[in-house]
Amino acid sequence: MIKIAPSILSADFANLERDIRRISTADYVHVDVMDGMFVPNITIGAPVVQSIRKVTDMFLDVHLMIVEPVRYVEQFCDAGADLVTVHVESDSAENIHAAIDKIHAKGKKAGIVLKPKTPAEAALPFLEKVELILVMTVEPGFGGQKFMADMMPKVAAIRKWIDEKNPACELEVDGGVAPDTCRTCIEAGANVLVAGSSVYKAPDITARIAELRG
Ligand code: DX5
Ligand code: ZN
Repeated sequence: MIKIAPSILSADFANLERDIRRISTADYVHVDVMDGMFVPNITIGAPVVQSIRKVTDMFLDVHLMIVEPVRYVEQFCDAGADLVTVHVESDSAENIHAAIDKIHAKGKKAGIVLKPKTPAEAALPFLEKVELILVMTVEPGFGGQKFMADMMPKVAAIRKWIDEKNPACELEVDGGVAPDTCRTCIEAGANVLVAGSSVYKAPDITARIAELRG
């Protein structure tokens, strides 16, 4: 089954509870955390995750775009994240392993994220110990960018490795996912689709979520 993870980056932050209710037919709530260092934009932190946790039982997929995420992963777990993903480019391999271990020690799911220029092989050292791998289909930092179709071979390569080595692992794509790009992601092997602007700008959000399932 294909899962849809609307990104609240495209929601109205002054009406976050309302905008989370609007996506109740989706599977995950995707929360983009940016620090203005790892990416050139600043969004929200753990206190906001904590507030979201109080108003929804939905699965919270927290995408950390911050430097040295090992410093903060426990805070996000305590705030109520169900899954925390960290970029492989954001620290040494040793510290990425440590971040994953800390997330697991909190009883939460852990994932890794690859920026567009990062090769598929960068996922291999972590592939057997994570519950999700996220392949960025835009440069992280902003919503509303154009989908990078040239990431599909990377998705397909990682799908093959997941099926061989860790079949329970989920494969997520993030950036520019819309009705005209969702099928190519599914065909390449993604099973979780993040979508920000294409969900929140839709005239009928529930219908759009259904449409994105392919
Ligand atoms: C980008 C974020 C995405 C973003 C996707 O750095 O990780 O989650 O919100 O937005 P759209 O779907 O509009 O490309
Ligand atoms: Zn994201």
